[in-house]
Amino acid sequence: MSAAGPSQGANPAPPGGSAAAQAASVGAHQFAAGPSQGANPAPPGGSAAAQAAGVGAQHASEAPLLRVDGLRVEIPTRRGVLLALDDISFAIAPGEILGFVGESGAGKSLTGMAVLGLLDPPGRIAAGEVWLGGRRIDQLAPREMRRVRGKEIGAVFQDPLMSLNPLLQIGEQLIETIQTHLAVDQREATERALGLMRAVGIPAPEARFTAYPHQFSGGMRQRIVIALALCAEPRLVVADEPTTALDVSIQAQVLQLLRQLCREQRTAMLLVTHDMGVIAETADRVAVMYAGRIVEIGAVEDVIQAPVHPYTRGLMGAIPTLDETVGPLAQIDGAMPRLNARPEGCAFHPRCPDAIARCREQGPRLVAQGPRQVACWVAGPPQEVAQ
Ligand SMILES: Nc1ncnc2c1ncn2[C@@H]1O[C@H](COP(=O)(O)OP(=O)(O)OP(=O)(O)O)[C@@H](O)[C@H]1O
Ligand code: SF4
Ligand SMILES: [Mg+2]
Repeated sequence: MSAAGPSQGANPAPPGGSAAAQAASVGAHQFAAGPSQGANPAPPGGSAAAQAAGVGAQHASEAPLLRVDGLRVEIPTRRGVLLALDDISFAIAPGEILGFVGESGAGKSLTGMAVLGLLDPPGRIAAGEVWLGGRRIDQLAPREMRRVRGKEIGAVFQDPLMSLNPLLQIGEQLIETIQTHLAVDQREATERALGLMRAVGIPAPEARFTAYPHQFSGGMRQRIVIALALCAEPRLVVADEPTTALDVSIQAQVLQLLRQLCREQRTAMLLVTHDMGVIAETADRVAVMYAGRIVEIGAVEDVIQAPVHPYTRGLMGAIPTLDETVGPLAQIDGAMPRLNARPEGCAFHPRCPDAIARCREQGPRLVAQGPRQVACWVAGPPQEVAQ
């Protein structure tokens, strides 16, 4: 899926790098100090919202690796154009994990696919910008974007079988991906593939090198997909429900692995999940999505401990707890609107316990409230009504 550039082969494991990273020869990568990265400019024309979105406090001193600014995705249909994503702005720093959470249909996967340049036609980016390092990537030609995807952005999807070729041995698939992106010979590629298998926790990789995907368990298959995504030491990994298909105990291991790899290799991650538990365990910040918009974004502990937006509060209330004294499971009445039936004003108003008259007429913008951002007339900071 992805692999490192020619300089990769000479990339030494850093002193103090983990055994896993060293085993894979995938130490702290050079991107962070690379010329384009070091000179990473704020994209011209960045909206106030995008600039305010910034990155998490612990990454505040760093230039964001990924910056999405005012992204709008439309899906033309015979009955008109559906607005699937509306004014999505966020940034992710190197080594930072930003989780996207929300109910089914919120637009989480579309956000990841838009960043990857993999929107299914006729879906299209109708407005906004996507910047990776100092480079704008949403307007690249398909061939160039394939290179970016292979080399700089890795992808991990829910079903590992979708990313693996059932007819090829695991080792062959890794070697093929590595050699697609790296100028390395067969021996080097084999060593690197074995190192990656070790790095993602595959025991006795030599013995499993010639196995086929069906001979692996679901958890082991997903580890291989992660290894494939890391072949090129991507600067960014987009992981869409990477553990949803796995048993709970395996889920925890895979999440731990992703987190460790991000920390050690300074890889940024856009993590899509419907599971707030996964966010709590893995992400640094969380963006809560509703009906194609971000309604609240902030540090995970802030948002989980003190959710501000009524929808986030509803989501938190719906998390089961082991403490029986907290009463029955809260539910958000109603359902996420379909794209062709998005209510006027704030899309959440038909379900919102706090709605006021203004909510039915005009949608609130996402504005800064302390270190987080919230889009709500009532719970968010005061904002002017657009004329
Ligand atoms: N190709 C398409 N054509 C029409 N509608 C689409 C298409 N792709 C996505 N959608 C719609 O866009 C909305 C957002 O979809 P998306 O897949 O991003 O949701 P999600 O938040 O990832 O949900 P889930 O948790 O179910 O995966 C949904 O209403 C979906 O039906
Ligand atoms: S803007 Fe209004 S309807 Fe929307 S979440 Fe806030 S209070 Fe509820
Ligand atoms: Mg999805």
